[in-house]
Amino acid sequence: MAERKAYLDLGNGQPPIELPIYSATMGPDVIDIRSLGKHGVFTYDPGFMSTASCNSSITYIDGDAGILLYRGYPIEQLAEHADFMEVCYLLLNGELPTGSQRHDFDNTLRKVSMVHDQINNFFRGFRRDAHPMASMVGVVGALSAFYHDSFDIADPRHREISAFRMLAKVPTIAAMSYKYNIGQPFVYPQNRLGYVENFMHMMFATPCEEYVANPVLVRALERIFILHADHEQNASTSTVRLAGSSGANPFACIAAGIASLWGPAHGGANEAVLKMLEEIGDVSNIPDVIARAKDKSNPFRLMGFGHRVYKNFDPRANLMRKTCHEVLNELGMQDDRLFKTALELERIALEDPYFIEKKLYPNVDFYSGIVLRAIGIPVNMFTAIFAISRTIGWISQWSEMIADPEQRIGRPRQLYCGAEQREFVPIGKR
Ligand code: ACO
Repeated sequence: MAERKAYLDLGNGQPPIELPIYSATMGPDVIDIRSLGKHGVFTYDPGFMSTASCNSSITYIDGDAGILLYRGYPIEQLAEHADFMEVCYLLLNGELPTGSQRHDFDNTLRKVSMVHDQINNFFRGFRRDAHPMASMVGVVGALSAFYHDSFDIADPRHREISAFRMLAKVPTIAAMSYKYNIGQPFVYPQNRLGYVENFMHMMFATPCEEYVANPVLVRALERIFILHADHEQNASTSTVRLAGSSGANPFACIAAGIASLWGPAHGGANEAVLKMLEEIGDVSNIPDVIARAKDKSNPFRLMGFGHRVYKNFDPRANLMRKTCHEVLNELGMQDDRLFKTALELERIALEDPYFIEKKLYPNVDFYSGIVLRAIGIPVNMFTAIFAISRTIGWISQWSEMIADPEQRIGRPRQLYCGAEQREFVPIGKR
């Protein structure tokens, strides 16, 4: 309910337009500008720098204070004390599960983690060297062709079934994308294993050899899943919402989210960070890299630095740096060359006036690549790992949107800068 009003004078001699202001529980209030179109103007906000596209009760971020809350719970507490199943339940349902709710939720997911056998045929259509994200966009979208029994998105039970299927099957599809890529047979999920352990099993076991996961590495991957699980209205989540706003099938919407996530400015960043660290090679080359990042005529950016929302620090980056230490210690890799380069790059950049003035700090992906590499995840699977983690966020946001009575098809407007109306000239007279 609007408690205050804003007044907008268009400078056209007409009385100011009255616009309601809605209060947020936390963070900035919003001005409801929906009536502006009636007055012949729109707002202009490329990249949605100042536009709230929806109301949401799932995730809260205060970029200046470095705060990230899932359903009100600080990310630090969840990463420390909760497991990924609890976080998934929380994001989807709004409350932390009791012991029996957690058990039932986990059990349901375990039972639907296998994919339809026809899915194997989809993979066979791809080139062996296909990037795992390319396979994932296609195969996750293809799930739309399978589950006709839960197609009614207006039915909350159908939405829940789709959510379970998606959460359970995306890790299976990600692991299949990897196995196909390296020419190994697909490894089926094991119902006796937990979510993260099962994913590692599907990635690293072969029919010839069992894979026994190291609990420290399981916990590290679990933390990566938790830290990436949701992040409010980021590019891929907004993509899922926009695709879903037309009533599209949820599997197709998540495939759209995966496509958006793939870009190097979003989910592709940790892959880009690792490539950059490898290119740097030695700490002596860091000043040159910093100079390139600052050079306006050079499109190069320091990957893993900067964030649209966090302008002081990314709370997930601190947790990731800590996890990085834990994993490298466990594996006896304390002297890891890339980790040392990353620490030194961070130190030098954080002292540089350019990065200080522009408020550019390491984001979560600056360290996650080093952790994933140490676990044995190949670089071209990094974004796929992000997609597994973010699936719960996408589904939760999609479900919230479908249940929202204010939901309408997403349809931004534009500032038209093209030619004015003109007469067609036949081809012979041009
Ligand atoms: N290295 C060097 N300069 C940078 C960097 C960087 N990594 N990031 C931003 N800048 C500079 C820009 O050149 C710009 O300078 P200007 O004001 O002189 O033109 C200024 O900082 C602001 O940058 P924008 O691109 O306008 O900021 P925006 O909020 O749109 O972009 C983004 C944020 C895309 C994350 C950007 O910082 C970036 O490209 N970072 C590297 C990629 C990366 O790490 N992405 C991961 C994001 S986290 C995630 O998806 C989980």
